[in-house]
Amino acid sequence: MKKATKVLALILAMAMMACTLVACGSSADTTATNTEAAATETADTEAAATETADTEAAAETEDAAADTEEAAPAEGGTITFGTNAEFPPFEYVTANGVIGEYDGIDMALAKQIAEENGMTAAIENIEFDSLLVALQNGQIDAVIAGMTVTDERKEAVDFSIPYYTATQVMIVKEDSDIAKAADMADKKICVVQGYTGEVCVNEMGYPYEAFKKGTEAVMELVNGKCDVVVIDSATAAKYVADNEGLKIVEDPDAFASEEYAIAVKKGNTELLDKINKVVEAKLADGTIADLAVQYSEATVEE
Ligand code: ARG
Repeated sequence: MKKATKVLALILAMAMMACTLVACGSSADTTATNTEAAATETADTEAAATETADTEAAAETEDAAADTEEAAPAEGGTITFGTNAEFPPFEYVTANGVIGEYDGIDMALAKQIAEENGMTAAIENIEFDSLLVALQNGQIDAVIAGMTVTDERKEAVDFSIPYYTATQVMIVKEDSDIAKAADMADKKICVVQGYTGEVCVNEMGYPYEAFKKGTEAVMELVNGKCDVVVIDSATAAKYVADNEGLKIVEDPDAFASEEYAIAVKKGNTELLDKINKVVEAKLADGTIADLAVQYSEATVEE
């Protein structure tokens, strides 16, 4: 891929991540603030994208780039899945994982997708914010990361059939008086950077603090430094089970349902078909539902 195209692709991907819109309550009076924030973020990421592209262009030859980018993984080959293994029960690091040190619902599914296509699954553990960029520049073949399908992400990448339905929830201390999303108005809110939870809180117009990892946000809550963590439902359940004194508060009116899907580079229909074939079968025969139960009950040993 030519450098200019690559820079464009990176800018596009990062801008998409920065101004992702999801189906959660947004009111008209927060629009101005959101647009401003998104514009600033886009400007920042543009600079970052240009730098990244420069470094990469220097580090690799054009030929090597062309080879890895155009070839879809074939029979006997490897599908390299990008994930961010900070999201139990979907992906986490453990002593004996289903793929190397990686385990969780997504990891088990990734392994099946590869194997049923006569291939091997490899995992690249990267920051959630960088996943779509890594996909764009050919570092990984697919993203499996409990990633919610959003219109903006759909403009940057292609998504598989959804395999899991989730929603954002609020984790609070057991004695908290937060009963609905609007109660967060005068509270200290913690989210995880780049997650749809951040997008939702931002759309609601509340100030918040963003952390790199879910565990960091939850520790902040446990230590009384924040009042509420907004994060995906199954992951929230895991954190509540693993930490004493926490509970989950749901507000379906404020947080609509989200669907997780696997992302491939735009136009990579060959790989997408291979993925969809397996996802479809594993949804139909109940394998994915079984994995969800199995991993939701599993204890995460890190
Ligand atoms: N579902 C949320 C999103 O798409 C959070 C996903 C976080 N996944 C992870 N592997 N860290 O933004």
